[in-house]
Amino acid sequence: MYFGADYYPEHWPREFWEGHAKLMKEAHFNVVRIGEFAWSKMEPEEGRFDFAWLDEAIEALAREGIQIVLGTPTASPPKWLADLHPDIYMKDEFGLTRGFGGRRHYCQNSPIYREYSKKIVSAMASRYKDHPHVIAWQIDNEFGWNDTARCYCDNCLQEFKRWLQNKYTSIDELNKEWGTIFWSQTYRSWDELILPAHSAADLNVGAAKRYSHNPGLLLDFYRFCSDSVVFYQKLQIDVLRNSGCSQPITHNYMEHFNQLDYYNLGKDLDFISWDNYVVYEWGNKAYETTAMAHDVIRGIKEKNFWVMEQQSGPCGWNHLGDTPKPGQLRLWTYQAIAHGAEGIVYFRWRACPVGAEQYWYGILDHDGIPRRRYREIQQIGRELSELSDIINDSKTISDAAIIQSYDNWWSHEFQPHNPGFDYHRLLHQYYSALMHHHIQADIVSIDTDLSKYKLVLMPAFNLMTDEIQTKVENYVKAGGNLIITFRSGTRNWNNSITLKTLPGYFKELTGVEIEEFDSLNFGRTVKSSGIFGEGTSCVWCDILRPLQAETLAKYSGEFYRGEASVTVNSYGNGKVYYIGCDLDEKAITSLLKYITVESQIKPLLSQPMDGLEVVRKMKDGKIYLFLLNHTDATIEISLEGKYLDMLSCETISTSVTLNAYGIAVLQSL
Ligand code: GLA
Ligand code: ZN
Repeated sequence: MYFGADYYPEHWPREFWEGHAKLMKEAHFNVVRIGEFAWSKMEPEEGRFDFAWLDEAIEALAREGIQIVLGTPTASPPKWLADLHPDIYMKDEFGLTRGFGGRRHYCQNSPIYREYSKKIVSAMASRYKDHPHVIAWQIDNEFGWNDTARCYCDNCLQEFKRWLQNKYTSIDELNKEWGTIFWSQTYRSWDELILPAHSAADLNVGAAKRYSHNPGLLLDFYRFCSDSVVFYQKLQIDVLRNSGCSQPITHNYMEHFNQLDYYNLGKDLDFISWDNYVVYEWGNKAYETTAMAHDVIRGIKEKNFWVMEQQSGPCGWNHLGDTPKPGQLRLWTYQAIAHGAEGIVYFRWRACPVGAEQYWYGILDHDGIPRRRYREIQQIGRELSELSDIINDSKTISDAAIIQSYDNWWSHEFQPHNPGFDYHRLLHQYYSALMHHHIQADIVSIDTDLSKYKLVLMPAFNLMTDEIQTKVENYVKAGGNLIITFRSGTRNWNNSITLKTLPGYFKELTGVEIEEFDSLNFGRTVKSSGIFGEGTSCVWCDILRPLQAETLAKYSGEFYRGEASVTVNSYGNGKVYYIGCDLDEKAITSLLKYITVESQIKPLLSQPMDGLEVVRKMKDGKIYLFLLNHTDATIEISLEGKYLDMLSCETISTSVTLNAYGIAVLQSL
């Protein structure tokens, strides 16, 4: 397994490099990622490349046994380039230039920027393609960061027209699919097409953002922007491959970004990596959120992954987030590994005295003295060198899957149905409920093979196609269990609302009709009760008329008191649950308990425990349990069966004790 840090030799005097490398070795490091923002040092002026310093840095690290993931530096184009070609800057929806001074100040669709990108990547490729210490490449850095995937410049307009022409062969077809007859928006030729920039009907006052563009146009624009990034990434990959680089290629994702279809972006990559910050200036993440993020990332290629930036100190830009408490760096590292990480790279090696991220602390403080955080990471390194055999190529096996769709996320984003509705939050709610029963769920795209799972959840899967309908019907017919929720199946893939009776594409499967719905605004709540006890909705209630389905819960308030809120339908050999309303955490947890038992899913531990996370992995036919204590208290966990504690090498049965933020890796005997 790979273990190391993100390192910026260009930030430090040459004479520091050896000392850094020695300390890294003592922490059991075998890899660093470097280079991803160093364009101005690699090409100080147009066409003059200088890699001597990079060669030397790589040598200094390699002498201590440390290998290199080399980043292409295109996330920070140098000033000379931007001054020569100001056309590379992005434009926002108001037509304002997003200029120099930060990073990611370029448009993916700028033909000039693409050429310069190819040149720098090609120069790096010829230098490092056969380098014995360069073991992987990272393309650019966090595509889509800070709203940088969507640009409104003229280059983007031209590319968008081409993209649409390719998709809708005739302008009449486009007009029909978007429904441009509405408000006289009919386009007579491709030339007349627009970007959904600021318009007279838009409202942009703080939280009161209102989208008024045609929903078909908006959705296609989001898709086009995502495709532009995929295309731009592919340009760089092609340069590397055509220059003879055979090292694997990755990109560092940021799980919560949603401007890119991460499944599409992943197709051209050999492995996925991502950047995992848990407590920082912008919030303290719940452990369920981080667990889910890891699972989203593993689900991109349904393969193990790397964490290319793993938090290693207190961090923020203008404020500092909480400092990681003793044990937390270790806990977060094991959590990543449990969910499929095979590479852990801490961000950053040493806090930088200059630049926008002066407050982003790393393993070492500014003064470079190894302290508590270094010692904790050193301990992890020692442990992982023992455990790496069971980590590499291990499999995380789940009985349940949650389907995530970026197209659906986008459509819900600009028309969320109700101010309280958030697609991602809904997925998270279901994920956490399963997790609280110690049931693992994969998070995957609808392209996955559904037959692997006993239970598939498709929360708010609203945009549909006939193919997807057939696919899920076949899954259920063959004995699968499916959960569908409110706001599913009401639209076609181009974002028009279906003329079918709701739940539209899911009417047959669910065996219900939606008689009416009630969007709950301004603090209204509605209760329902049934199989889960009593629950409260505060976003949405579908008033259901069961056709073939059986009622599992009914509303107990409003004019629809007594009407069905949750149903189950037998379809072929399987079952389809329709959950017509949002529910509070307690109710959803209890409902999922019922459904998972019915679906014959066995929890990993029979006694759920707050703050305890359990992950099951398999390697070479052996089963391992990762136990992760996310609380600051000592907890005792009752076990069924006999286990070998992989860290203490003791055999244990009946129970195991974990200290605050403690972990255990147990092999089932
Ligand atoms: C991201 C980037 C890093 C760094 C950190 C901290 O994850 O990839 O370069 O900027 O955030 O802000
Ligand atoms: Zn642009």
